[in-house]
Amino acid sequence: MEKKFGLIGLTVSHSFSKSFFDEKFFREGLRDYHYDLYELKEIKDLKKLLGDNPELCGLNVTIPYKEQVIQLLNDVDATAKKIGAVNVIKIKDGKLRGVNTDSDAFLESVEKWFPNEPGSKALILGTGGSSKAVQEALKKLNIPFQTVSRSKGTGDITYDELSKNGNIISESKLIINTTPLGMSPNTNTMAPIDFDKITPQHYVYDLIYNPARTQFLQKAEMRNATIKNGLEMLHIQAEKSWAIWNN
Ligand SMILES: NC(=O)c1ccc[n+]([C@@H]2O[C@H](COP(=O)([O-])OP(=O)(O)OC[C@H]3O[C@@H](n4cnc5c(N)ncnc54)[C@H](OP(=O)(O)O)[C@@H]3O)[C@@H](O)[C@H]2O)c1
Repeated sequence: MEKKFGLIGLTVSHSFSKSFFDEKFFREGLRDYHYDLYELKEIKDLKKLLGDNPELCGLNVTIPYKEQVIQLLNDVDATAKKIGAVNVIKIKDGKLRGVNTDSDAFLESVEKWFPNEPGSKALILGTGGSSKAVQEALKKLNIPFQTVSRSKGTGDITYDELSKNGNIISESKLIINTTPLGMSPNTNTMAPIDFDKITPQHYVYDLIYNPARTQFLQKAEMRNATIKNGLEMLHIQAEKSWAIWNN
């Protein structure tokens, strides 16, 4: 029986999810399974998409709909509710259930990579949906963090305040970029932090996976920091999506 899955977002052509699931379906001999990319101009277009594709069993959700989609769901799991963002939808008997797998995917990825020693602190750049997923993961790992925002009152500090207090970067050995700055095709930009404060003891994680080495990661690498992009997190969250759709 034909089963459809896919990714909804505003611009999804850059996504690696389709090739991930196409390869998976091929490897596992699931010839009637398909994964497609669906660009929605507005989140309310989801209703038409579902009407036109009754074979849809599951969707991934990306920018800018992870928060907006919640209003259209029948049910949202506890973690997604807490984070306020959904990146996986399970469709069963016409009912939509929202789940967040970004948070646990980030947790699994960072846990085996970052040596979480007593006194470790983190700095999270950006305060959007993926930032909230990262915050939830760091709480579970007992790593204290500060969030950096462009606007006062949205995060813990602004980029301006960060630049005036050099100790924050020096003391935050884990730095995570959750902004879309540097993501393909706009690769020529990055979050404005002072890279002179980055040392070989720093671990710099960029949630972006396309390009593999953003300008942000390149700058950190030049300072001999340990770097990681978002590809492993993407793969872990995709496997978690698959487990949810098959449960
Ligand atoms: N690897 C993975 O599995 C994975 C999973 C999720 C997301 N991601 C990636 O993570 C990135 C963010 O996704 P998201 O869903 O969190 O997006 P989002 O909800 O739009 O949030 C991004 C945040 O970044 C900050 N920001 C946005 N534009 C900015 C700009 N021009 N300059 C400085 N800061 C800016 C904003 O925070 P302030 O307004 O507070 O500054 C915003 O809330 C994307 O590149 C996405 O592809 C990767």
